[in-house]
Amino acid sequence: MSLDTTHINHQRMPIADDAELWLFGYGSLIWKAGFPYLERRPAYIEGWARRFWQASHDHRGTPRAPGRVATLIHQPGALCHGMAYRISGEVLGGLDIREKNGYLRETTLMHFADGSHAEGLLYLATEDNAAFLGDAPLDTIARQIATAHGPSGANRDYLLNLAAALEDLGAEDAHVFALAERVRDIKT
Ligand code: SIN
Repeated sequence: MSLDTTHINHQRMPIADDAELWLFGYGSLIWKAGFPYLERRPAYIEGWARRFWQASHDHRGTPRAPGRVATLIHQPGALCHGMAYRISGEVLGGLDIREKNGYLRETTLMHFADGSHAEGLLYLATEDNAAFLGDAPLDTIARQIATAHGPSGANRDYLLNLAAALEDLGAEDAHVFALAERVRDIKT
């Protein structure tokens, strides 16, 4: 089951095409922008942890064999490293479609390495959405990721590209790195 959030997002946080804003990416938006941006800077947010708890029926899996992609869960004291993009509001139409499988526009405070901060928009898939899978044993999540494929490609590529991008950023993420290690060991 999936839920198309495209229209909800447009209504809940309308943003003019000519507005300039920051976007915070923590999943595919770190390593696969696929949209024009004015500036790109590593950033982190506080109190959120990245988890492969969201089903992908449209990109990295299918309705019959969904993949698993990243969302964020509240976790006091956690840091989530990602990529901030300064964009024009007109980019959001395409992003709403890309993130339509349960993700909602939210705002967050982003921190940059130089100590400055800014408000950013992010796409968050909460446990209320129809595609939320939640936790499972790491081996179960890894097996699902190792075997799922969708219109955007193999689910394992999503995970391994994300792990590589986080390594490039020098960012720690025990959940992502443990999954990547397991998925590399699964031969399909
Ligand atoms: C994000 O990357 O910020 C959202 C989730 C995704 O598209 O992978």
